[in-house]
Amino acid sequence: MADKISILIVDDEPHIRVTIQEFLSEIDQFNVIDAVPNGKQAIESCKRRVPDLILMDVNMPVMGGLDATRMIHTMFPRVVILMLSTETDMEIIRTAISGGARDYVSKPIRGNLLVDKILSLFNRPDTTTSSQQPGKARRDRRLIAFFGIRAGMGTTTIACNLGSILAQKHSARILMIDADSTYADLSHYLGRRREPTIVDLLRQGDPSKADVIGNYIMQTKAGVDLLPGSPIGQIESLDESKVMEIARSIAGNYDRVILDFPGLGSALRLEILKQVETLFLVISNEVVAVRLARILIEILKRRDFPMKTLKVVYNLIAPLFAGVESDQVEDILTHPLFAMVAGNPEVVTTSYLQQIPFSHTPPTSVGKSIEQLADRLAENLRG
Ligand SMILES: Nc1ncnc2c1ncn2[C@@H]1O[C@H](COP(=O)(O)OP(=O)(O)OP(=O)(O)O)[C@@H](O)[C@H]1O
Ligand SMILES: [Mg+2]
Repeated sequence: MADKISILIVDDEPHIRVTIQEFLSEIDQFNVIDAVPNGKQAIESCKRRVPDLILMDVNMPVMGGLDATRMIHTMFPRVVILMLSTETDMEIIRTAISGGARDYVSKPIRGNLLVDKILSLFNRPDTTTSSQQPGKARRDRRLIAFFGIRAGMGTTTIACNLGSILAQKHSARILMIDADSTYADLSHYLGRRREPTIVDLLRQGDPSKADVIGNYIMQTKAGVDLLPGSPIGQIESLDESKVMEIARSIAGNYDRVILDFPGLGSALRLEILKQVETLFLVISNEVVAVRLARILIEILKRRDFPMKTLKVVYNLIAPLFAGVESDQVEDILTHPLFAMVAGNPEVVTTSYLQQIPFSHTPPTSVGKSIEQLADRLAENLRG
């Protein structure tokens, strides 16, 4: 096996140094040998031991990253220098690269992209196993996925109202991604036209670049940002691993990214859904929905799915006499219910027609139940 890549971290912000160090230390191919707060100390560190790679911040007291890069490149030309920069720093990046930096990564830094970049700079294959590469293996705590046990469970309704309450009541930065290629109606619920769409992004842009993805994101009156779904009439399935790549790439810019997946029938990619911190399964109070959910839960358990991440939302959409009593449901499912949502066709339909989430209107039974759901999530929103 090739030697480990030795790494020096240079950043004046202690928490960034510590976070990067902890993150990279978990990767087998890397060896973080030092972490210092400015360019001057970086030069001193190189004199003691020359690293293979330096992660170099730009603005630092005593000596900034541009001066340090020029000097280190002259003194130790074989060291690979990777700048850590905010996206507005393009002119600075050009200067850094002409001074000897090899490349840059944008701040806020997304761990898995940093790992990929370093491995590619050193032409190392990505041999990290799932337990070694936190960015790929660990669940991404910013990602929330929604899917219904089948079509028409109220998944999109609950997802967009949850997003809007998290944004409005809890001041969270929320991005909603329409990952349902068949109906792609999230933009309708949020009152936005849907061009350009996620399909355009996947065709024309690089789904791993946050600044590219940003061009396809729009703001909504509901207070959440939106990456709209496929164009009308396009019933072609989205590559869900690419959708997830987009979510991961942009997640650093948000408190939470909420993905609205289609009902189970059209897509359940277990490996993909394993990557999210919270997976909402929406079921209605119809016997058939509860039965299907029970089967799914059994399958998930057999496949060692991380069941803690699975939160079942029981949407009381059907007339009560047609439904299963809620206290029986947990027994049938062999899994707890995370939340119940009140049925309220009038409020939900009016909101659909007006294209604005009902969480904005005066308190309603259905709005309150989703608010409770949001409050529970918000407890660890920034944790
Ligand atoms: N709590 C509720 N009370 C009353 N009606 C509801 C409720 N939740 C959803 N509905 C209605 O159920 C229908 C389906 O809702 P929605 O589009 O949110 O479901 P979905 O699971 O996302 O469906 P799709 O499979 O089309 O993606 C809509 O007509 C919506 O108005
Ligand atoms: Mg939907």
